Amino acid sequence: MSSEQDFTKRKLWGGRFTGSTDPLMHEFNQSLKYDKRMYAADVKGSIAFSKALLKAGIVNEHEQKEIERGLKTVEGEWAEGKFAVQADDEDIHTANERRLSEIIGKDIGGKLHTGRSRNDQVATDMRIWLMEESTQVEQYLKDLLNVMVSRAEKEVDAIMPGYTHLQRAQPVRWSHLLLSHAQSFLSDLDRLRQLQPRISVLPLGSAALAGNPYSLDRELLRKELGFKSIGENSMHAVADRDFIVEWLQWASLLQIHMSRMAEDLIIYSSAEFGFVQLSDAYSTGSSIMPQKKNPDSLELLRGKAGRTFGQMAGFMMSLKGVPSTYNKDLQEDKEPLFDAVDTISAALRIAEGVIATLTINPAKMAQALTMDMLATDIADYLVRKGVPFRETHHISGRSVALAEQNKIQISDLTMEQWKDLSPHFTDDVMDVFDFENSVEKRNAIGGPARGMIKRQVDVARERIGK
Ligand code: ARG
Repeated sequence: MSSEQDFTKRKLWGGRFTGSTDPLMHEFNQSLKYDKRMYAADVKGSIAFSKALLKAGIVNEHEQKEIERGLKTVEGEWAEGKFAVQADDEDIHTANERRLSEIIGKDIGGKLHTGRSRNDQVATDMRIWLMEESTQVEQYLKDLLNVMVSRAEKEVDAIMPGYTHLQRAQPVRWSHLLLSHAQSFLSDLDRLRQLQPRISVLPLGSAALAGNPYSLDRELLRKELGFKSIGENSMHAVADRDFIVEWLQWASLLQIHMSRMAEDLIIYSSAEFGFVQLSDAYSTGSSIMPQKKNPDSLELLRGKAGRTFGQMAGFMMSLKGVPSTYNKDLQEDKEPLFDAVDTISAALRIAEGVIATLTINPAKMAQALTMDMLATDIADYLVRKGVPFRETHHISGRSVALAEQNKIQISDLTMEQWKDLSPHFTDDVMDVFDFENSVEKRNAIGGPARGMIKRQVDVARERIGK
């Protein structure tokens, strides 16, 4: 028989349809390669479950102890990289249970899955895993915020142009700009904390979809696993992946904030601006242009926002149209979430490093301040002399035009010229041309005056600390 005939036979009538799983299908179905990172959550959930089985009289005290001992051994094997994966281990749940029975014997090991399904097990594991990761991510976010707030507090003297439409607008403190980004991250911190109660809902005890018939004590399970509440509907509990969608949405928005901050810093680090300089630790050189120092860290922070948004959008599409309870589509929750958690964790630490180590150049910031940025202050000056703002705006505009015509700065207009523009101008108009004064006048809550920077720092610290 020629090898081609051989192939045809196999392809059409052979191994593919004999009833055993196609090797490619096995590979397609298998989630162990990525869900093994939840091994500790899986063991934790199973130990708690064994205690509920003990209370329900399904296992005795000796058996429960054995299960617990075996599971701890399994966990140790994973931790030490010694867990021997077998070809037909489908996911972390089947792998751990297979190994447990090898260690303590099938007679006892085989009792663990009573009244449980991988459907409630996997939903429980994901929630345990995400709660733990979220605590770590929250800490990274707090670290970043602390660095931003400390810098803002220390560098309050530096005044720079504030931009709208990327055009020089009005003078502000560098601290004010930095804290404007911190405000976004503070909201992200609030939002992350608000997600917690919705992650912390216990599915375990729901079994495949219809609950368990052993009156398992779910309150015991809740306490053992540190969940805030218990899923009230077994069909919903095994189907619900909203906590993952919300986390991905949360992460996407955080990364969009990060991306906008990165963009500011990229612009300000260019030679044209020169307001900030990245440390060598977070820059790279060019392979061909030796003079270059590229802000790769910031560019990656900007770029990763697209990646996380993509994970969020992709998983939402996987969820759309999935019928009630568990369907295998739901296995598609893992890779997007794991990737987003990894990406966010790295991004937050990189951002912290970038912000902690960059240097600012207050002289360059000051050089970029031009007197026309005080045109609004001229209008405000006239308002204080009783002129209606709409009129003052016009007069101030004419002073800018006049200076432009004469190719001088508005601060160089003569007293005579000012008087011509409006009889309300007196000698004290010259006091307007001071950037520090301009910023200090903006001392209502939320403004860039020193006192309000201090207030922002205090309020931010309180929100971080909670
Ligand atoms: N590996 C599966 C997942 O991640 C576990 C649940 C499998 N349940 C099932 N009925 N096949 O979703």
